[in-house]
Amino acid sequence: MSQNSLFSAADLQKSFYSGTEKIQVLKGLEFSINTGEMMAIVGASGSGKTTLLQILGTLDSPDSGTIMFKDLELTAMSDNELSDFRNKSVGFIFQFHHLLPEFSALENVMMPGLIAGRTRQEMEAPAKELLHQVELGHRTSHRVSQLSGGEQQRTALARALIMKPSLLLADEPTGNLDGRSGSMVFSLIRELCRDLKLATIMVTHNSELAARMDVSRTLQDGVFL
Ligand SMILES: Nc1ncnc2c1ncn2[C@@H]1O[C@H](COP(=O)(O)OP(=O)(O)OP(=O)(O)O)[C@@H](O)[C@H]1O
Ligand SMILES: [Mg+2]
Repeated sequence: MSQNSLFSAADLQKSFYSGTEKIQVLKGLEFSINTGEMMAIVGASGSGKTTLLQILGTLDSPDSGTIMFKDLELTAMSDNELSDFRNKSVGFIFQFHHLLPEFSALENVMMPGLIAGRTRQEMEAPAKELLHQVELGHRTSHRVSQLSGGEQQRTALARALIMKPSLLLADEPTGNLDGRSGSMVFSLIRELCRDLKLATIMVTHNSELAARMDVSRTLQDGVFL
C-alpha cells in the first residue's frame, strides 16, 4: 500500500452465500489512488465491480482486509463514524440516478446538505453553481421527472459533488445513456474531478471511456489483474 495515497485497500475479501453455496467475490484485492486521479474499473458481468464499489463506499463491509482513507482506517470505524465519512468525503453516482423524481433539480442537489442539517439558504447558491457547472443552469426548477436521461445524470453528478467530497465513486454512470449523452456526462465528470482534485473510481463497460482515464484496472477472479 502506498504511503501517500488518498485512498487504498489491502487484502480485501468478500463472499456471499447463495443457499449453502459460498461465492467468493473478492479474493485479496488491493489498490491505491491519489488525489486528482481517475481510475476505471472494468471486468465481466458478475466479476464483483459493484460489490467492490459498495465496500469502498462503506455501504457494505468486507469479510476481511483494510481500507484506508488518508490516515483513517475505515475498516476499523463504527457505523456512526462511517456515515459521517460517507456524508463528508464520498460522492456516489449510479447507473440509475436515484434522484427524487417529484422534487426539482435544485432541491435534489441541495438534499445532502439539508439532510446534514444545513439550511436552504446556505445550500441554494452552491447547488445553483454546481447545476450551472453541469450545464443545467436553465433547468434548476424543472422536476427531475421532466428531465432527459442525460440531464438526470448530470443532476446526480451535481448532487454527488455538493458536499465537496474527496472521493467520487461511480457505478456505470453512463451505462443507461446513449453515446452522446454518455460522452457529455463522462467529460463533465472528468473536468470536474480534475478541477476539484477528486479521486474518482468509475466502473464502466465502455473500453473507450476506460482508456480516457488515468488508470484502468480489470477485476478478474477476485483481484485486479
Ligand atoms: N447480496 C448478494 N447476495 C448474494 N450474491 C451476491 C450479492 N451481491 C452480489 N452477489 C454476487 O456476487 C457476484 C458479483 O456481483 P456484482 O454485482 O458485484 O457484479 P458486477 O461486476 O457489478 O456485475 P455487472 O457488470 O453485471 O453489474 C455475482 O455473482 C453476484 O451474483
Ligand atoms: Mg454492477
